[in-house]
Amino acid sequence: MTNKTFYIETYGCQMNFADSEVVNSILMNQGMAPVQRAEEADVIFVNTCSIRENAESRVWNRLKEFRALKKNRGDLTVGVLGCMAERIREQIIDKEKLVDIVVGPDAYRDIPNLLAEVEDGRKAVNVLLSLEETYADISPVRTSGNGVTAFVSIMRGCDNMCSFCVVPFTRGRERSRPVQSILREIDELEQQGYKEVTLLGQNVNSFKYEGTDFTLLMDEVSKRHSEIRFRFSSPHPKDFPEPLLHLIAERPNLCKSIHIPAQSGSSSMLERMKRPYTREQYLELIDKMKSIISGVSLSTDIIAGFCDETEDEHQDTMSLMKFVEFDLAYMFAYSERERTYAHRKYKDNVPDKVKKRRLTEIIQQQMSIQDKNNKKEIGRRHLVLVEGVSKRSDTQLSGRTDTNKMVVFDRETHQKGDYIEVEITDCTAATLIARPVEKSSIASFKREPAYA
Ligand code: 5AD
Ligand code: SF4
Repeated sequence: MTNKTFYIETYGCQMNFADSEVVNSILMNQGMAPVQRAEEADVIFVNTCSIRENAESRVWNRLKEFRALKKNRGDLTVGVLGCMAERIREQIIDKEKLVDIVVGPDAYRDIPNLLAEVEDGRKAVNVLLSLEETYADISPVRTSGNGVTAFVSIMRGCDNMCSFCVVPFTRGRERSRPVQSILREIDELEQQGYKEVTLLGQNVNSFKYEGTDFTLLMDEVSKRHSEIRFRFSSPHPKDFPEPLLHLIAERPNLCKSIHIPAQSGSSSMLERMKRPYTREQYLELIDKMKSIISGVSLSTDIIAGFCDETEDEHQDTMSLMKFVEFDLAYMFAYSERERTYAHRKYKDNVPDKVKKRRLTEIIQQQMSIQDKNNKKEIGRRHLVLVEGVSKRSDTQLSGRTDTNKMVVFDRETHQKGDYIEVEITDCTAATLIARPVEKSSIASFKREPAYA
């Protein structure tokens, strides 16, 4: 494989982006070189997502484009990685002859062997899931990042079996990565100048390796790297012990921003979704978060139109979102996935039109809440980590607050990787606009006590 070039196109969640960095590392160890455009590559990989039907259709379309590319270039190899691999391997390789290689999320170490099989003229498949694989010893190669913020995967898989979700089937059982290998990767990132690390996992706060749980891990990494800020994604509401909330409140480098997927605001829906909490328990947890972590910013995931959803249940979701006033929400129409409990036991019986209407109502309400929340930011001071030059203008920088809001401000003499204290002066729907006050650091920045 030496001297060959490769290109990876990634779809789906942050976990998939982190996995592509592991694959980068595996391929580069074989002497292969990454390129930025599919047209320049000898080997094209698509890292795929199955979470909703439209994620899969985008991948199908892209694979057809690559097949067209292959017509002119017989030596081009195309591979499918990630969540779609298991489900569609036969279809892809035998029926449609779209691709040469199919590799599931736990089989990336096998890619060099699979590429060799293809060179010998065979189609190559490995979609075995593993109980142990965490790619602990592989240092991901971050070819497309900004050099300031990085993802570190700390656990994989999911045992929750929410009735709508295909992830347990595509990514297998939950397992955590050895603590020492996580610490080593973060040490390396600090040496390379990274300033923000997002700990990743399908149920990141269910992390448990020998005696270390998620709270202990957060304690350890935040003490060890006081000028790196830490985020985590994506947690499950069932694993938020109070000590974790207190730790986030007290440590200046643990971001005051929590993603807490509700999925629905109705207890009866939550039961059908097999989520292990009621509306009341969820709201109790939100109350606790708001009272323990002053100024905490909350975000969520919501599904509209899940099986048997009534208008009242939909209204429960609307009222929960209105009550919590999330700063950000990822909102989806339910998309039935094969193999899930819902596919086997329930009917996807909310008409498309109704799903779309409910989703629109949810989105519109959320947009107006975000607008209101952003306006409240005007006049506040925040510590922003500069991620780079703003997309709109070279004379401006952009970065995020500790609360995960995008901020744009005049460049002056500041640069990527600096922590800058700013004062918010204005806002648009998605961005805060600010005036830089001074260069600062996590240790010296004084957070405003509480946002009234
Ligand atoms: N349909 C719609 N949205 C889904 N999600 C997961 N499965 C489905 C599905 N079948 C959403 C959930 C989850 C997020 C990653 O994707 O809100 O938290
Ligand atoms: Fe998509 Fe889920 Fe797979 Fe991530 S884990 S790529 S969201 S199906």
